[in-house]
Amino acid sequence: MTFKPVKKAIFPVAGLGTRFLPATKALPKEMLPIVDKPLIQYAVEEARDAGIEQFIFVTGRGKGAMEDHFDHAVELEQVLTERDKLDDLQTVQTCSPPPGQLAYVRQQKPLGLGHAVWCGRNFIGDEPFAVLSADDLILAEPGCLKQMIEVYNQVGGNVVAVEDVPREHTNRYGILDIESDDGKIAKAKALIEKPDPKDAPSTLSIIGRYILQPAVLRELDKHETGVGGEIQLTDAMASLIGSTDFHGTRFEGKRFDCGSRLGFIEANIAFALSRDDMAEGVSSILKEYG
Ligand code: UTP
Repeated sequence: MTFKPVKKAIFPVAGLGTRFLPATKALPKEMLPIVDKPLIQYAVEEARDAGIEQFIFVTGRGKGAMEDHFDHAVELEQVLTERDKLDDLQTVQTCSPPPGQLAYVRQQKPLGLGHAVWCGRNFIGDEPFAVLSADDLILAEPGCLKQMIEVYNQVGGNVVAVEDVPREHTNRYGILDIESDDGKIAKAKALIEKPDPKDAPSTLSIIGRYILQPAVLRELDKHETGVGGEIQLTDAMASLIGSTDFHGTRFEGKRFDCGSRLGFIEANIAFALSRDDMAEGVSSILKEYG
């Protein structure tokens, strides 16, 4: 059986990023660099490598730096050309998807992840789509979304990336209530947003990668609020179970929660160590502090 291909992705980037204040007072959290590349660029590259052709950013106030980042930097490119810095020129020129593939829409109020995704609805139409949360950064080869699309091509429906978390952390994630599990793909019979550890039906948690059917947008039309008074994507997805399948896939790779300070620092170390031009220098720095 073949399923409609996933060609569109929503990047919800309208959050306030309060855990990174004051850095995020004027700078979008998604522009914080891991080594030398902003978080959002890792997410865009992961999506592009997975075959995504339309990139929909749900932005908010003060997020303009992201639009500039994915635009032509005419003066900079001119100076780099004049100075014959051709490697740097290529680096800045290959940041952006081709013209016409990027769209921006504003989420005027940060009412939750579900609301942010709903704000992108008019760009999605009647097609399956991906959602990538840039602050969940995943070191993986092939990229996490590409691995998910392989699973989607087998099972169709809705596919989320999952990983096991310590039970005491279930109240930070959407958690799967599992119907069946072959060790790689788990079929969900329910989804619970941020359950108390004692009530969590499993420890298999949804991380910031989703492949969703457009029906979820009709659920989000209802604007129902959940945990924290926010419009939760997990709740809208949960309402669809029964009429459409939900699978969680354990991806191969390592996820870093770059929305938290420790996760952000760990990601910087791990990504630097994974690079030939940085590994040696970073190891010797780490030994100094070990
Ligand atoms: P977070 O839960 O990390 O919230 O959002 P946040 O506001 O970005 O950060 P803190 O908790 O205040 O430090 C997860 C993802 O969902 C987006 C965020 O931009 C982030 O990528 N988001 C969240 C929205 O786009 N809109 C929202 O209303 C909420």
